[in-house]
Amino acid sequence: MAKSVSMLVVALVVLFVLKLTCSSRDDIHIPTTLDGPFKPFTKPLDKSFRGNAIDLPPTDPRVQRTVQGFEPEQISVSLSSTYDSVWISWITGYSQVYSQLYPFEGLKNYTSGIIHHVRLRGLKPNTLYYYQCGDPSIPAMSDIYYFRTMPDSNHRSYPSRIAIVGDLGLTYNTTSTVSHMISNHPDLILLVGDVSYANLYLTNGTGADCYSCSFSQTPIHETYQPRWDYWGRFMQPLLSKVPIMVVEGNHEYEEQAENKTFVAYSSRFAFPYKESGSPSTFYYSFNAGGIHFIMLGAYISYDKSGEQYKWLKRDLAKVDREVTPWLVATWHPPWYSTYTAHYREAECMRVAMEELLYQY
Ligand SMILES: [Fe+2]
Repeated sequence: MAKSVSMLVVALVVLFVLKLTCSSRDDIHIPTTLDGPFKPFTKPLDKSFRGNAIDLPPTDPRVQRTVQGFEPEQISVSLSSTYDSVWISWITGYSQVYSQLYPFEGLKNYTSGIIHHVRLRGLKPNTLYYYQCGDPSIPAMSDIYYFRTMPDSNHRSYPSRIAIVGDLGLTYNTTSTVSHMISNHPDLILLVGDVSYANLYLTNGTGADCYSCSFSQTPIHETYQPRWDYWGRFMQPLLSKVPIMVVEGNHEYEEQAENKTFVAYSSRFAFPYKESGSPSTFYYSFNAGGIHFIMLGAYISYDKSGEQYKWLKRDLAKVDREVTPWLVATWHPPWYSTYTAHYREAECMRVAMEELLYQY
């Protein structure tokens, strides 16, 4: 995979450490299940939400490229497998890192900007770090951003708020969801698949709510990769501060030449897959305070004889519930759902893996 770790030579992350005591957070009482039972609360549907989600257009200022030359854009933070390490990702220029290629006449190929993933190590828990990314020799440095590391892993320390979101897309409804996330100040974001929905577009930028309904005659399922850049720009105000952990959904499939799939997903995000002993960007694990998260891949083999199942077994066996009393496994297609459109879609995965998860 043409990940740009080689770009480390020109890609520099400058770190400023600011150790803050977190006494204000320690004062917050977070209810536990022992404080329950709680009265169920249903929030009325926001009437401004649209049944037919409408994508942000390329003319929206929030998705347009505003940086100059090789200045960083689409900046995001992701966690490594433990609190002492995070990934900073950003994109510069227009040179090649990954391509989305179609061997068919009339289809437009796409080449991404240089995608940088830099891993910071030796960080302290629950500490605010200021950083800049970019190349100081040009100079082309970003503004100063900050993130907070996760608390140390033990039975008393947890992130205060975790936002879990899926099927996010880049519609006007997305803007409400992201505003809600920002105003709730999460410490961590899990995005459980279906990210940019670039695969609802032809390579010429024509989109539709239902690809197969509108574009049934295309020789391959096309995508419009600039939608990924729009998504990265739109999300930067949130993701440059709050770590995001992503696992693939069906919309990241994005078939291209030579039967390659999931290339944008695997290239654009940083995943602690190597740090967590996984051979694949499709599944990995990490700790966030006293929680061990396992991100499972629903679009790669999950059979008992496959790599993922063996990795899951090894990962689960390593979990120390004294250190991480909470064990949370997540993946894209729900195993338990009555929703007719995706009814029992992930039944094979459930049958293969459910028993192993229950053992822990
Ligand atoms: Fe999906």
